[in-house]
This record gives sequence, C-alpha cells and structure tokens, in this order.
Amino acid sequence: LSFSSTDFRIACGHFATGVAVLTAVSADGAPHGLTINSFVSLSLEPALVMAAIAHSSAQLPVFDTASSFAVNILTEQQQQLSALFARVTDNRFRETAWTPGKSGSPILAGALAVIECRVVRRFDEGDHRILIGEAVEAQVGEGKPLLYFRSGYGSIAG
Ligand SMILES: Cc1cc2nc3c(=O)[nH]c(=O)nc-3n(C[C@H](O)[C@H](O)[C@H](O)COP(=O)(O)O)c2cc1C
Repeated sequence: LSFSSTDFRIACGHFATGVAVLTAVSADGAPHGLTINSFVSLSLEPALVMAAIAHSSAQLPVFDTASSFAVNILTEQQQQLSALFARVTDNRFRETAWTPGKSGSPILAGALAVIECRVVRRFDEGDHRILIGEAVEAQVGEGKPLLYFRSGYGSIAG
C-alpha cells in the first residue's frame, strides 16, 4: 500500500458528516448509547438506515440484543453530548435529559431529528458491526446540525 492507516483515516475525515447518538435499551431496561458519524440513509422504499459500531465498543452487546435502536441527530448546541457519548463513562444518561421513544429506545431532549428503527440485519465487515434498521418513527426538531470534519466540530454558517 502507498498509504498508511493514518493517511486513510485522515482522507476519510475529509468527508464532512453530521453527528448522532445511537441509542438502545439493554435487556434489563437500562439506556445505552454512543456517538456515531457512520449513519447513512440507505433506502427510501422501504425506509432503511445504516450505522456501524466498532467491535471495540463496550456498547456492542446492547446493540446485539436490542430489537430496536434510535438515531438521535445532534444540533450544534449539543457538542457536549457528542463528547459525553464518546467518552468512556458509565453515567452518560445520568447527565442527559431523555425519554423512551415509541419503540422504547432513548430519545435525547433537543435532538435535531430522531429516527427510531427496528433492527433488520446485523453483519460484520472489517473491525465494525453494521446495523441495518427499518424506520418505524421519524420526527424533526429545531436548530442547525452539529458537523464533524477533519476530526473537529463545526456548524453551518449563516
Ligand atoms: C464525531 C464522532 C463520531 C464517531 N463515530 C463512531 C461510529 O460511527 N462508530 C463507532 O463505533 N464509534 C464512533 N465514535 C466513537 C465512539 O463514540 C466512542 O469510541 C465510544 O463511545 C467509546 O465508548 P464505548 O466503548 O462505551 O462505546 C465516534 C466518536 C465521535 C466523537
């Protein structure tokens, strides 16, 4: 290869994305979640989305057993939530206002949009587990998106 893994990561980091917190409940009913930017809107008919979770994530067992998950798309006001849900800590939901959605998955207060999904497929590729979800609820809130670009946060001007 003519490039290193760092080169690859840096090149991929030039694709600007939004930021979301992927949430689900564990078998004991406790809320769990992690910050992701691997969200993709995959299909309109049926309404499908995709997200990828690193095999190294401590949250993986929750998403392996949950029958549904929620994609909480963050606003530019929620950068601290993005940091909190990417930090290794067990008190992410203690510091966060949330309610259970129709599917039971945690909905974060103030999210820019929320898509609740039923898990339709899980498979591994490389060092990630890929989840495909069929949207069962979709709602939008207010605000501007939190952006992620070249390992840093940004927002839309104007
Ligand atoms: C902007 C941003 C995007 C991220 N995207 C992903 C992602 O798509 N998939 C993933 O597994 N981790 C992603 N992470 C990292 C996880 O949020 C983080 O590693 C994880 O929450 C660490 O704790 P855990 O082991 O409890 O999951 C992202 C982090 C940030 C800040």
